[in-house]
Amino acid sequence: MAASAPVSVASNGKKEGLGWIEWGRGWYNIVTEFLFQRIMASHLENPLSLPPLNDVTCIVTGCTSGIGLQIARQLAKSGAHVVMAVRKTKMAQELIQKWQTEDSEMGPPLNVEVMELDLLSLKSVVRFAEAWNARLGPLHVLINNAGIFSIGEPQHFSEDGYETHMQVNHLAPTLLSMLLMPSLVRGSPSRIINVNSIMHYVGFVDTEDMNLVSGKRKYTSLLGYCNSKLAQVKFSSILQKRLPIEAGIHVLCVSPGIVHTNVISADPLAIVDQAFDPTLSGGVWAPTFRRYLRLDEMVQFLDLAFLIPFRPTTREDVWTWRWEKGGRFTARDLPRIVQAGSRSSLFAATDPQVSEYCELLKTEEWPICPYISHDCRPTNASEEAHNLETSQNVWEKTLELIGLPVDALEKLISGEEVQCKYQKKEA
Ligand SMILES: NC(=O)c1ccc[n+]([C@@H]2O[C@H](COP(=O)([O-])OP(=O)(O)OC[C@H]3O[C@@H](n4cnc5c(N)ncnc54)[C@H](OP(=O)(O)O)[C@@H]3O)[C@@H](O)[C@H]2O)c1
Repeated sequence: MAASAPVSVASNGKKEGLGWIEWGRGWYNIVTEFLFQRIMASHLENPLSLPPLNDVTCIVTGCTSGIGLQIARQLAKSGAHVVMAVRKTKMAQELIQKWQTEDSEMGPPLNVEVMELDLLSLKSVVRFAEAWNARLGPLHVLINNAGIFSIGEPQHFSEDGYETHMQVNHLAPTLLSMLLMPSLVRGSPSRIINVNSIMHYVGFVDTEDMNLVSGKRKYTSLLGYCNSKLAQVKFSSILQKRLPIEAGIHVLCVSPGIVHTNVISADPLAIVDQAFDPTLSGGVWAPTFRRYLRLDEMVQFLDLAFLIPFRPTTREDVWTWRWEKGGRFTARDLPRIVQAGSRSSLFAATDPQVSEYCELLKTEEWPICPYISHDCRPTNASEEAHNLETSQNVWEKTLELIGLPVDALEKLISGEEVQCKYQKKEA
């Protein structure tokens, strides 16, 4: 049952949620990453050095802020042709202007362009893919970075009728990846990078209730977020298995670590409050926590974890966080912190060894797609992600929800036309 209190097996034998042990291990992994991410990634440079990428075309979704912005800028700086797939197109144009001015002395102008994409609308995804595929050019890297975590907000649904975390974090990027297959084949060897999250460890996907409306569990944004990230890992695992080696397309999930961006800019109290809501996860422990540790003290303690620098080479790195008068730590140099969060995606997108690793996992029939941790090392996805049977259910249900036929992948790879339910009908 994802981030809420574990319920594992129903009377009909069907698994209905994570067991207590899986759930506890999940939270252990999340807390470990949160507290030790800087130490674990201390071997990495920041920003990551990238190889020259002059003949590489990359699409990056959601790059007007946060991790995506850093990914797009660094890829462009290394010479890649970057397509910023965003909903705020004017803002993206302004960013390009700013980057061109700031980097004007560093070499030729950046090769960046903007295309409109709103993941809250599957029609917008289809429009984007049609426009891109019509160019008949290659696509080497697709980075599905855009995502939402509407902390503390009530449940929302997209115009397509889907819970918004599930739509933005899983369904829409999946439709995008599928529809761009012809371009990815042209760009082969090519990669699809899904910016995932360690939070998938406490996710559970019930394919009969992807929208979280059945009432079996109380909706929270935490539940919506974790489930959508797990659904992404599960779908990617089947996709990676089904893609023939000759297609030369690899699918990876990455965890960026825990990074201070807009996605977690909501009051951190709201996150802690959800995690310890007595009606939800850790319900048994919540009263004890509340009695002995005030929430605001706990948040301050968690903020302290950010004091551990990711690479103490400069004074700024060491003192990235400073103590504010109000008794809280705040970031002094956000771009450097967010750059650190972009490293796993950039590594997955550009490191030559990644292809070998993906091929190795494929031949070994490993049940999940390659997963790169925030410290740019291969890591293991959650136990629940290893369940091939439920991953297959997620694959089938996802194709149904995004309006693609069951044989869409095979057809798209071989260059055949595929009708999507969200495609504009010819007049
Ligand atoms: N920050 C973390 O600690 C953390 C941890 C684990 C995973 N992640 C993942 O990292 C990815 C990037 O997040 P971030 O931390 O960089 O957050 P962010 O600063 O909020 O960036 C999210 C990006 O997604 C875009 N986006 C949101 N809804 C969209 C939509 N409907 N259509 C198109 N684009 C949309 C946003 O564009 P608008 O400005 O138009 O909204 C924004 O550019 C997400 O997938 C997130 O789940 C982040």
